[in-house]
Amino acid sequence: MPNAAVIQLTDVGKVFSTDEIETHALAGINLRVDGGEYVAIRGPSGCGKSTLLSILGLLDTPSSGSYVLKGEKIEAIGHRERSRVRNREIGFIFQAFNLIGDLSVRKNIALPLTYRRELTKADIAERVDEALERVGMAHRANHLPSQLSGGQQQRIAVARALAGKPSVLLADEPTGNLDSANGELVMDLLGQLHEDGSTLCVVTHDPRHAERAQRTIEILDGRLVASPVSLSGGCRNAVPVTA
Ligand SMILES: Nc1ncnc2c1ncn2[C@@H]1O[C@H](COP(=O)(O)OP(=O)(O)OP(=O)(O)O)[C@@H](O)[C@H]1O
Ligand SMILES: [Mg+2]
Repeated sequence: MPNAAVIQLTDVGKVFSTDEIETHALAGINLRVDGGEYVAIRGPSGCGKSTLLSILGLLDTPSSGSYVLKGEKIEAIGHRERSRVRNREIGFIFQAFNLIGDLSVRKNIALPLTYRRELTKADIAERVDEALERVGMAHRANHLPSQLSGGQQQRIAVARALAGKPSVLLADEPTGNLDSANGELVMDLLGQLHEDGSTLCVVTHDPRHAERAQRTIEILDGRLVASPVSLSGGCRNAVPVTA
């Protein structure tokens, strides 16, 4: 679905409240991502990048504003439907890989697909094989995650995200735990996926990786800013409740 909005956030805010402190993790976020786009998200630590990705990935809900994903108004749907939409539309790749340690590579990739009633066992096996081929890891299908290098584990995590054929791939510092050679490999893989039509939003601290994206979004203090921001400064989006 090229050039149609996959993601549309309007005036999205997110407030985390604890006893002592209220953190405005996001405020006034307006963001549209079209089908086939590759968007990098940058900004200093603590400024809301992971919070934004969690909202985009339906792992968290905004405190205010609206989110339309592929034409579906997310705040209007219930909890169970939200999980269903997440499983179908979103592929998540985390910095720490998040593979399940006592499941084989094949089972890790298959697991999210087993919740999709429309997929038969044969469909799932085919998708797992396809995804393993895609990331060049077919020869490791029966290994456990602990028997793989970090770079290989992340390629499996990419395969798991891909196997669902999601509308959008969200990656939160996908190379953060990798050495530079493995980081390059994973970024090359994401670049190829983009060339093949995937929509990607990738949080990255590394300017080399941001260079590969078509568009870079900068976040500062929970807000999108137009100009490049310094990554060394702190954030001021946490305020005491009494203030
Ligand atoms: N569950 C939570 N409860 C309370 N505060 C939270 C919660 N999650 C995040 N925050 C706060 O929201 C702000 C944004 O956090 P977030 O994880 O989105 O930052 P980030 O930009 O991803 O940082 P980093 O680059 O270090 O990963 C931070 O001040 C953080 O402490
Ligand atoms: Mg983060």
